[in-house]
Amino acid sequence: MESRTTPKFLLSAVCLAVLAGCAPVSQPENKLKSETEESIWPVIQSPVTQDAEMEKRITELMDEMTLEQKIAQMIQPEIRDITVEDMRKYGFGSYLNGGGAFPNNDKYATPEDWIALAEAMYQASVDDSLDGSSIPTMWGTDAVHGHNNVIGATIFPHNIGLGAANNPDLIKQIANVTAREVMVTGIDWVFAPTVAVARDVRWGRTYESYSENPAIVRDYSAAIVEGLQGQVGQDFLGDQQVISTVKHFIGDGGTTDGIDQGNTEVSEEELFTVHGQGYVGGLTAGAQTVMASFNSWNGEKIHGSKYLLTDVLKEQMKFDGFVVGDWNGHGQIPGCTNDDCPQAANAGLDVYMVPTDAWKPLYENLIQQVRDGVIAQSRVDDAVRRILRVKMRAGLFAKPSPAERPLAGRTELIGAAEHRAVARDAVRQSLVLLKNNQQLLPLQPNQRILLAGSGADNIGQQSGGWTISWQGTGNTNEDFPGGTSIYAGIAEQVTAAGGSVELNESGEFSEQPDVAIVVFGEQPYAEGNGDIDNLEYQRGNKADLELLRRLKAQGIPVVALFISGRPLWVNPEINASDAFVAVWLPGSEGGGVADVILRKPDGSVQYDFQGKLPFSWPATPQQAVLNVDNDDYSPLLPLGTGLQYGDADLLPENLSETAGMTEEVQPLVIFERAPQAPWLLELQSGESRSQVESSIQALGAITTRTFDDQVQEDARRFTLSGEEVSGFAFVSPFPRDLRAYANDTSTLELSVRRESASPEDVRLTIHCGDDCLVSENIAEYFAALPVDEWQTLRFSMACLQEQGLELAQVASVVGIQSAESMTISINDIRIKPDTTAPSICLN
Ligand code: BGC
Ligand code: BGC
Repeated sequence: MESRTTPKFLLSAVCLAVLAGCAPVSQPENKLKSETEESIWPVIQSPVTQDAEMEKRITELMDEMTLEQKIAQMIQPEIRDITVEDMRKYGFGSYLNGGGAFPNNDKYATPEDWIALAEAMYQASVDDSLDGSSIPTMWGTDAVHGHNNVIGATIFPHNIGLGAANNPDLIKQIANVTAREVMVTGIDWVFAPTVAVARDVRWGRTYESYSENPAIVRDYSAAIVEGLQGQVGQDFLGDQQVISTVKHFIGDGGTTDGIDQGNTEVSEEELFTVHGQGYVGGLTAGAQTVMASFNSWNGEKIHGSKYLLTDVLKEQMKFDGFVVGDWNGHGQIPGCTNDDCPQAANAGLDVYMVPTDAWKPLYENLIQQVRDGVIAQSRVDDAVRRILRVKMRAGLFAKPSPAERPLAGRTELIGAAEHRAVARDAVRQSLVLLKNNQQLLPLQPNQRILLAGSGADNIGQQSGGWTISWQGTGNTNEDFPGGTSIYAGIAEQVTAAGGSVELNESGEFSEQPDVAIVVFGEQPYAEGNGDIDNLEYQRGNKADLELLRRLKAQGIPVVALFISGRPLWVNPEINASDAFVAVWLPGSEGGGVADVILRKPDGSVQYDFQGKLPFSWPATPQQAVLNVDNDDYSPLLPLGTGLQYGDADLLPENLSETAGMTEEVQPLVIFERAPQAPWLLELQSGESRSQVESSIQALGAITTRTFDDQVQEDARRFTLSGEEVSGFAFVSPFPRDLRAYANDTSTLELSVRRESASPEDVRLTIHCGDDCLVSENIAEYFAALPVDEWQTLRFSMACLQEQGLELAQVASVVGIQSAESMTISINDIRIKPDTTAPSICLN
């Protein structure tokens, strides 16, 4: 094997250090094996073998293809940024819909709308009138817990809950059902399974990880791939199946401090034994695509790593399908941008996932780079051969068009009863019982039961991120036709057994209940938006703990059902509960919870708990990197814990409630990638107001759209037409006490980019309770900003207070309005307690 070069920026870091006279920084080495040493990466025997006849057909096809047609195969744009006519003109090899992207930008698009788009894109791709190509395109989607972008689909528990079930047969069934629902909508390809092994549960994608145990991940990966693609001899990649993607190669779950898209600093051995196992499982089952990961390995971005993509994956592991990039991930390679990146192709990336309008310049640049010899023709030919191979294996050249395929349009299969039954079974198997004082569970159903907590009747919260919208936010129960909340599942059985249920989020009741079930936990998030810095649940705002304690103080036995995408430090909440169940993110079939926690009317157990902790449970808020292989492993509850009925309790009566944190005023983050709770982004035009819930939204004279600055959708643009006063504001459903920022060093900081001429009057507004409004013209500062450059506007909080700002009850923390036309983008808004930089004093 050839030796790999040290990543460029590591070299320069080292040289700079030497020049500066300090000792060279020692970096973990991305080790290479010498030719005599045996590779730690195994040769995989895929059950899908190469077929000489097929390879010959590919050669014939490629002999007829122009360079433009070949590059088009390597471009994967997104449905929000291309039209059917673009597909006709360019003939993209594939396209995707990202999380929360729907046909016609319509959240309520019907299965028919999905098929119509699939059909139109397909027909445009095989139409050779403009591009001379009739190669069928394929559509990829994130069906990561069921066909989760489609209203009415069966939503399965997120991976973390499935890991608790530890049952590969169940997993395969789930993949099968998911494939069927995906096929109903005419889609060919699914971006799953995620085989991340999360090591630091502060990572926002921990719930996409089945387990910290690589063996579970390996076995599940194989089961999912088989379930999605079919098994050899049984429709393998035949009519009945979709193409799978093992992602994100490699080390996504191992980043330092659990930072999404961060740097995984591990030895090559650990990269393989921990983070590589999902690929062993998935490729052994015949996975046809692998998605490159956003993260780096010891400082080098995977999208640009020839060693990992080509030498390891393709050459050593003999993967002969194709490597797809992640969402503009190529643009993160040093020296690359989203629209210019030969480095990725040269490293071994076959398909660029290039949402946003970057697809066009990228396409043009790649063509030129091949002409200039920056990318070898042979590299392009290899990529295109791999893409065509996967399409042929999947039968895309032989199958009828999406609308004519066997399951297409069988809309009764979306959320079908037999599919929901599989999901409900998965919910039952995923629940983990952590505490059951006095054998409180299972409950007799013929009692008076109080259901409390924000998660009790909230299918959106119980489903988490990647549910209808990317972040999983903005959904109501009506967005889940056919779905069941945890409350509804319990109410059905209790009522049938002659008991009664009272639902009250804040735990009020009309008659003293026999028992209270409190359903609470994390609000939905996805990817980096879910990264946290400490595992304490509800740090600084223990509303749920108060609820639990209030009920307990009234002599009511309390069952806690904890919704979360990861283990969190909940010692106080455990102490305040008689029984405590980790329900993870169960999805649309909340009835599975009732099946386990309620007895049958005759008093016998319906289903016992089977789930075992897929991740170690922390004893302190600081135990974020808590893995069973740590030397100093001392969790609250070890990996694999899970009580069953009749088991003695494992936890002492009173767990330590000391979080061990010093209380310091933290910055108040208002917008970072997205509005940060409790702040909601509101559009305003004239008298109208609307809460922003999607990537693109308009109201009267204002429109907004997200775009990618550093990472996906971390910035927002606002365009005001000037037809009437319009603008936006960050509002809270209830006024907030911000008196912690009353000091002289606090500033309100807006990272903004002015993208138009400045209006004469543009207002910064803050609402602080009845008759308390600060509204200042900031046009002068605004006009001083250079156009199209990110700049920070920093306003002194003390000066704002002199203008009448009262911090005790802030309802709208920052707003920008104007009656004139303007375009402005934001990517970060926060209040900092300890600014030393100069700030603007509005007076
Ligand atoms: C998109 C989602 C997409 C996500 C991928 C966001 O910018 O809007 O649709 O799935 O990025 O990370
Ligand atoms: C995520 C992938 C996903 C892709 C497309 C990315 O941001 O990392 O998991 O498949 O977006 O939505």
